[in-house]
Amino acid sequence: PGTAKRVIDRLTRRVADFPEPGIQFKDLTPVLADPDGLRAVVDGLLHDVPSIDVVAGIDARGFLIGGAVALRRDVGVLAIRKAGKLPPPVHTREYQLEYGAASLELPADGLDIAGKRVLVVDDVLATGGTVLAAVGLLRECGAQVVAVSTIMEIADIPGRRTVQAELGPDVPLLSLTEG
Ligand code: PRP
Repeated sequence: PGTAKRVIDRLTRRVADFPEPGIQFKDLTPVLADPDGLRAVVDGLLHDVPSIDVVAGIDARGFLIGGAVALRRDVGVLAIRKAGKLPPPVHTREYQLEYGAASLELPADGLDIAGKRVLVVDDVLATGGTVLAAVGLLRECGAQVVAVSTIMEIADIPGRRTVQAELGPDVPLLSLTEG
């Protein structure tokens, strides 16, 4: 994780006053476009993660890292989609955004993940609403979430406490750097 933090901090594109005045946006695009950056992120996200059966990547940037992480562990990758992309039947979880609401979905048939050990990955943890919706959806399908790994945690938005409380003390919530 120390190596990953250095590479991420060096390559992150910081944009002042986006999307609003006073906010500094952290764009991870250059990190994942760099071979050392991608390797460090993938290895870092798997640090101390126990044995897993499948990696779940959250729409959209969780998809980018989910496939790479899954290949490293020789398991499959599961796409947790934003609402309206999958044909029915689907499981749906709504969550709150700063303005309005959004939903995540998984297929309700043809995907047997009951009892499977799942690692959830995403790029950024802010309020934690997105990760919580993903975890709820996976549990509704009978899966066991064994760890959650994100590249960056936004330090001044307290998502970690809420997410860790929901995960319980035995499920690690990892982030490789703070933004
Ligand atoms: C971003 C990010 C995370 C989420 C974190 O996605 O990729 O998924 O926000 O925020 P939270 O912890 O407050 O829920 P966004 O909703 O911007 O969607 P996108 O990936 O489709 O751009």
